[in-house]
Amino acid sequence: MCGIVGYVGHRPALDVVIAGLRRLEYRGYDSAGVALALPGELWTEKRAGKLANLEAAVADSDPPPATTGIGHTRWATHGGPTDQNAHPHVSSDGAVAIIHNGIIENFAELREELAALGIHLRSETDTEVAAHLVGRELPRCDGDLAEAMRRVCRRLNGAFTLVAVDSARPDVVVGARRNSPLVVGVGEGEAFLASDVAAFIEFTRDAIELGQDQVVEVRRSGVTVTDFDGQPADVRPFTVDWDASAAEKGGYDLFMLKEIAEQPKAVADTLRGRIDRDGRLRLDDVRIPPSELREIDKIVVVACGTAYHAGMVAKYAIEHWTRVPVECELASEFRYRDPIVGPRTLVIAISQSGETMDTLMAMRYAREQGARVLAICNTVGATIPRESDAVLYTYAGPEIAVASTKAFLTQIVAAYLVGLYLAQVRGNKFGDEVRHILDDLAETPAKVDLVLDTVEGVREIARELADSPSVLFIGRHVGYPVALEGALKLKELAYMHAEGFAAGELKHGPIALIEDGMPVVVVVPSPEGRSVLHDKIVSNIQEVRARGARTIVVAEEGDEAVIPYADHIVWVPPCPTLLQPLVATVPLQVFACEMATAKGHDVDQPRNLAKSVTVE
Ligand code: M6R
Repeated sequence: MCGIVGYVGHRPALDVVIAGLRRLEYRGYDSAGVALALPGELWTEKRAGKLANLEAAVADSDPPPATTGIGHTRWATHGGPTDQNAHPHVSSDGAVAIIHNGIIENFAELREELAALGIHLRSETDTEVAAHLVGRELPRCDGDLAEAMRRVCRRLNGAFTLVAVDSARPDVVVGARRNSPLVVGVGEGEAFLASDVAAFIEFTRDAIELGQDQVVEVRRSGVTVTDFDGQPADVRPFTVDWDASAAEKGGYDLFMLKEIAEQPKAVADTLRGRIDRDGRLRLDDVRIPPSELREIDKIVVVACGTAYHAGMVAKYAIEHWTRVPVECELASEFRYRDPIVGPRTLVIAISQSGETMDTLMAMRYAREQGARVLAICNTVGATIPRESDAVLYTYAGPEIAVASTKAFLTQIVAAYLVGLYLAQVRGNKFGDEVRHILDDLAETPAKVDLVLDTVEGVREIARELADSPSVLFIGRHVGYPVALEGALKLKELAYMHAEGFAAGELKHGPIALIEDGMPVVVVVPSPEGRSVLHDKIVSNIQEVRARGARTIVVAEEGDEAVIPYADHIVWVPPCPTLLQPLVATVPLQVFACEMATAKGHDVDQPRNLAKSVTVE
């Protein structure tokens, strides 16, 4: 949550910082602020509401021409989204400005300590204590901002990224991180600090990953990194492999629309380069030796939200292909229930951002119990892949809209590759069987393209149903997590009551919800071979329709059995059942996006949400 930018260099810092915040606004958008540091002067401006409010305030003021500055876009935790609680927060002497992402858990006692010293806190935030503590520490360490930051960090509990500037030494920006994200961008005679590379990709692609509990000083002349005790720390430089245009709308009205349209490419990119000339899967980034993978007796997927739904889909496939039991667990629940994990457990942590705190904590817990952790992640250098034993990156490119779309499809693909790789290594499947499934997977980008060509009908249905108080989604087998995902999209974007159910569960309670005209979206599996699964869901459609539901049926082209019971039909291309989520989810994304648009909502930045949930 919260977006952080810091800059020191030769450009106007305000422009660089505001441009960076624009790219990070998806991380939090209930208030924003900037601070500029010049010799003997600190200039700040902050405003509640979206970044546009800050930009308007800045335009009405007379900012000094600084080349050092910091900026913040906030998702409130402690204290509501007001001007006063917006970051930066400034030390009592007015010299140090600090921005923060995370939660300082011992802030109450630090607040009391400061109050006892006669320091009046102007906000309700946990962040302000850090500003005062650093401000007080500075004179005790000869004005060395990095040392003051280290001393303060050693006193803080919780998760935090802090970035500070000091008007006494405006040639440096200092950052610190524990559990929350912070990356460094290195340019020619300039340097950047940011929650993610999107903030500075316009200026440089050379970046540095920071580790846990590190403090970084950036100057025009270079970057210094130490641990919290001041010892030099190892850092990992990397090059960002996408350019600034990947994080632009590129002619689309919404990031979400662009990201939905990018799905065929995202799926193809995630498959690319992972199959050798003999048709065998090669997952070079899975660094767990095959001997250990053969010993695995249980797989646990941990993830949140959409990534959790991808994990639920993967469970069906991985169990089917490997015969290893797979549990899929909400990361936020996992470590609190004394789960049974050990050295023979493979934990798969799925996260687009690689920074979701619940997922990070779940995987850390699993590692403590001796489990091996494999991350499926879309963000190179993020904390979750860095702390995992192995990582399989999804190549979706930056996902900016808060509602996850292309990440979902690529997470399913990556998890399937893991499942097939395990089946290959453990000998559950012959090479030609794996190859056959990979061939089917390779056809999915073209199929997703076909779906995208025909979604105008889905938009019409969405507009027609936009005033419905509630929408239900049902599915069976892998169609069940697809139904959950369809409902999640509608909740977060259209702010409507929406529920996903396993269709077989309806008669055990939820069918009582159905009343005349209630939309029910049904995800129908392939009729291939007249499967029992298919026949059962056709009965479920009839059951809800008999009780007045208005049925929106997502079915495979040519599936005539559903026609008599569908008020609306959305056709998707034929796919083997296990691959159907890759096509059947797409109309549901479009449905939610269009419904939210029809209701006049901000699709890319829905209320109360943030893209990257970096607090538990
Ligand atoms: O970055 P992650 O994949 O770990 O994020 C997990 C969830 O917060 C995320 O999928 C969330 O549910 C999306 N907003 C849903 O569209």
